[in-house]
Amino acid sequence: MENFQYYTPTKVVFGKGTENETGQLAAEQGCRKVLVHYGSGSVVKSGLLDRIYKSLDEAGIPYVSLGGVVPNPRLSLVYEGIRLCQRENVDFILAVGGGSVIDSAKAIGYGVADHGDVWDFYEKKRAAEGCLPIGVVLTIAAAGSEMSDSSVITNENGWLKRGYSSNYSRPRFAVMNPELTVTLPKYQTASGCVDIMMHTMERYFNHCTNMEMTDGISEHLLRTVMKNAEILMTRPDDYDARAEIMWAGSLSHNGLTGCGTDGGDWASHQLEHELGGMFDVAHGAGLAAVWGSWARYVVDAAPARFAKFAVNVMGVTPGSTDMETARRGIEAMESFYRKLDMPVCLRDMDIEVSEEQMRELAEKCSHFGKRTIGCIKKLDKEDMYQIYRNARG
Ligand code: NZQ
Ligand code: ZN
Repeated sequence: MENFQYYTPTKVVFGKGTENETGQLAAEQGCRKVLVHYGSGSVVKSGLLDRIYKSLDEAGIPYVSLGGVVPNPRLSLVYEGIRLCQRENVDFILAVGGGSVIDSAKAIGYGVADHGDVWDFYEKKRAAEGCLPIGVVLTIAAAGSEMSDSSVITNENGWLKRGYSSNYSRPRFAVMNPELTVTLPKYQTASGCVDIMMHTMERYFNHCTNMEMTDGISEHLLRTVMKNAEILMTRPDDYDARAEIMWAGSLSHNGLTGCGTDGGDWASHQLEHELGGMFDVAHGAGLAAVWGSWARYVVDAAPARFAKFAVNVMGVTPGSTDMETARRGIEAMESFYRKLDMPVCLRDMDIEVSEEQMRELAEKCSHFGKRTIGCIKKLDKEDMYQIYRNARG
């Protein structure tokens, strides 16, 4: 087991009706004025936003609002949010929504605490030295941003999607009522389940040994998500299944399933982020579409690890070699994605990627030839191009 730090400062308030405690939770943070940040309308339509306002009113906390966050959240709205917070002397941001809203809130928080251009952090030109405190009311189980240290923003100038991570942005509290996720379209539920699984799988695929505890947690988490994701495909209002998925979503990305690993692989995420930037696809769906191509490209570097995954997570019967077992596991994973109506190649998402676009994706993903990605196998620009190519379908 490698040395590690495990830091989860987020207070989790989980269960039915917990959104009504939001005002009290914000008051506990000692805030004077809150920015309520939300997306493109689902929280207005469901009435959740009104309940949040009521809860803040009851706690005597003044607020201003900024809606309009879109999936693959945009830098231009982040700039608008920074200006609004500065003008209104906001000292706390409440994100009401999913990963996109939370990530946008984190970026605004970095921007308010800084005097330069917040995009510098996402370009890795500078490190943040602070962030306004963030609270979350979660409406979709997926990105895990409610407990994570990261945020991912898309810059419309060049359509670059970039992530930045620092402990400053870990939310102070996360309100998680699984009932709030019942209104999700089936596609978003499925896409979220894929993302949750991928956050553990990215960490699971490493070259470490002696990982009994972390491997056990990871494997159980993955089996739990698979079982309950299937339930939600036919019974979307099953509270217990929603609850299992929501809790798994947070544990999958708060660092728990990475304790003692070498950090994990993360190549599929890097490959997907470029798809999100260029084609605006749902993040989880994009991950499902590239994972099989990535797995087949790198499996020869760690057949035993893939075989363990195949048996312990996918429940496949072992073949005569690790490689055979590993390949069965990859196929089983793709069959599971299909059961959720998730894509297993780019064509399944109705994306026809031209030769030129595949080169551009690889250019961007390699930061124009300046970086490699992945740890199971280090991938350079040419490898990235091949994986996109094999993912075309
Ligand atoms: O904007 P509204 O109207 O709310 O609609 C959203 C959006 O269209 C809708 N939705 C959310 N909750 C709903 C709902 N519709 C009905 N009922 C509800 N209860 O769902 C759509 C997707 O929302 P979004 O926030 O984009 O989803 P998700 O949580 O999957 O976030 C995706 C973003 O997170 C980033 C992704 O790259 C992507 O940009 N990620 C962030 C991470 C992090 N910060 O730690 C890690 C992840 O790997 C990921 O990269
Ligand atoms: Zn993700």
